[in-house]
Amino acid sequence: MRVLFIVLLCWTAAAALAADDRPLVIAHRGASGYLPEHTLEAYALAVEQGADFIEPDVVRTKDGVLIARHENDLTETTDAAAKFPDRRTTKTIDGMKVEGWFSEDFTLAEIKTLRAKERVSFRNHGNDGKFQVATLAEILALRARLSAAKGRVIGVYPETKHPAYFRSINLPLEEPLLAALKDAGLDKAGAPVFLQSFEPDSLKRLAALTSLPRIQLLVAAGDATTDAGLAAIAAYAQGIGPAKTMIIPVDAQGRTGTPTDLVARARKAGLLVHPYTFRPEPGFLPVSYEGDPAREYCRFAGLKINGLFTDTPDLALKALRESCPISAK
Ligand code: G3P
Ligand code: CA
Repeated sequence: MRVLFIVLLCWTAAAALAADDRPLVIAHRGASGYLPEHTLEAYALAVEQGADFIEPDVVRTKDGVLIARHENDLTETTDAAAKFPDRRTTKTIDGMKVEGWFSEDFTLAEIKTLRAKERVSFRNHGNDGKFQVATLAEILALRARLSAAKGRVIGVYPETKHPAYFRSINLPLEEPLLAALKDAGLDKAGAPVFLQSFEPDSLKRLAALTSLPRIQLLVAAGDATTDAGLAAIAAYAQGIGPAKTMIIPVDAQGRTGTPTDLVARARKAGLLVHPYTFRPEPGFLPVSYEGDPAREYCRFAGLKINGLFTDTPDLALKALRESCPISAK
């Protein structure tokens, strides 16, 4: 009972900030800087590295199972093309014509014959062909196992991917997502869960069905980031997940500029702020940080963000614990 109380207490604190008063570290697609994204192995490594949350993007299979993929097109992150050459097709998804191999055209049994591969050309490809595509249920079971093994609350931060498209083909995401969370005992207020989407309608639908906190993802400044826009988001979500450049702009040469007032205004609207995506490689890290990802983490921590999505939870935690001045935490 005492353990349960402590766990609940820890989680309540974690809802805004991690226990040691730093931004929450959200393992973006698992520890995807090291292992093929969205695999059980990448999530387990993220937990080993100390991540507060693991982040599955979810899509559905032909037989309706929720699986973790960044998009329903499996081409870039699996060997679907080699294993099912005849399954290639062209679809219009969210107004874009896409040619490839799609989750909704495969049963789970077929998906399980695939193996994941690294998406980013300059990352380690030594694990290509080794790991399966994970179901959301498997990820939630892993989360429970590792939470117990590590004696700490590991959160899960699922994102509905292309929810309007999936609903249009009679494979809606929101209801089965909540059912999976319920099956895993994660449906109650206070459960270590954030739900996220780029599509407001998906979050509004979730808001009608659950009290689990919701985060509105944003790609660029616009109507949604005016004071009125933030107030509108606050009616159905508890926070925003903006692209990093919406907080610290970066010019075409990779130089960072003066921070915007987005964090301050979001806070004023009562919203948490969880920017994405922190990545250490020169192809991603703005040149102003001179190759040192810790400088980027500390700069954002100094702006009092509440959490951050990172491909490398180990680097995030090292920076936040060892490099950032106390005032930046
Ligand atoms: O969900 C936060 C961040 O992951 C959004 O970007 O495209 O990597 O899912 P994406
Ligand atoms: Ca995501």
